[in-house]
Amino acid sequence: MSTHRRGALIVIEGLDRAGKSTQHARVCQNLRNQGHRVKSMRFPDRTTPIGESIGAYLRGESQQEDHVIHLLFSANRWEAAASIRTAIEDGTTVVIDRYYYSGIVYSAAKGRDDLSLRWAREPEVGLPRPDLCLFLDVSPEVAARRGGFGNEKYETSVMQKRVRELFYELVQLRDGEDIEIVDAGRGIEVVERDIMEKVVRLMAHTKLTRHLRIML
Ligand code: ADP
Ligand code: TYD
Ligand code: MG
Repeated sequence: MSTHRRGALIVIEGLDRAGKSTQHARVCQNLRNQGHRVKSMRFPDRTTPIGESIGAYLRGESQQEDHVIHLLFSANRWEAAASIRTAIEDGTTVVIDRYYYSGIVYSAAKGRDDLSLRWAREPEVGLPRPDLCLFLDVSPEVAARRGGFGNEKYETSVMQKRVRELFYELVQLRDGEDIEIVDAGRGIEVVERDIMEKVVRLMAHTKLTRHLRIML
């Protein structure tokens, strides 16, 4: 086993308006302040050609068959996988706003018999596996008080409720090993302190002397 310290792979997940983007920015800033090199990423990455077609779909400007859009979201991660791996091997910590957890639960939440959680998980197998996934949990009621829904595809209360249930199902599967649930219904600073405690613990962890794992 080498003693070279690689970067960590940290993911922020959760429902819409759980505060993911707010906390993602703070984690990146706090880690930089502590002297870590940080690469900030988000999925979907709407800047690539695949990401642009995902954006058009989410805005309702184009139609996609449910399996097809699922595979495009996955492809959007695969096109970034090598750069994630390279950064981490180089000692840079990668912090991502949404990752394959969202990919799996949002597609499965459509409730089709031919698009199960198990089916949705398969294209993600082999991707870099996070050292820590912080799942920001918030009740649909609290999330609703944080402002109205936008106009994008999945921003309906029926969909949000099903997505939350499926996140909890995912926690029961092997992916749950990497997930820490954070009560995101509290104030921004309280949530930030809770998250940073977990992040600081990870940054000191011996598992960062071992190779980055892959999703299995
Ligand atoms: P997400 O990326 O999960 O959709 P955002 O970080 O964009 O969520 O936050 C959604 C809205 O809720 C923003 O207006 C943000 O300022 C606000 N917000 C974020 N975290 C909290 C919190 N802990 N308490 C109250 N409001 C919050
Ligand atoms: P995002 O751009 O993070 O929007 P927001 O900041 O408003 O939460 O995500 C857009 C939508 O895409 C969101 O409803 C979740 C969904 N999504 C999937 O369906 N599959 C995926 O693989 C990912 C990453 C997101
Ligand atoms: Mg966001």
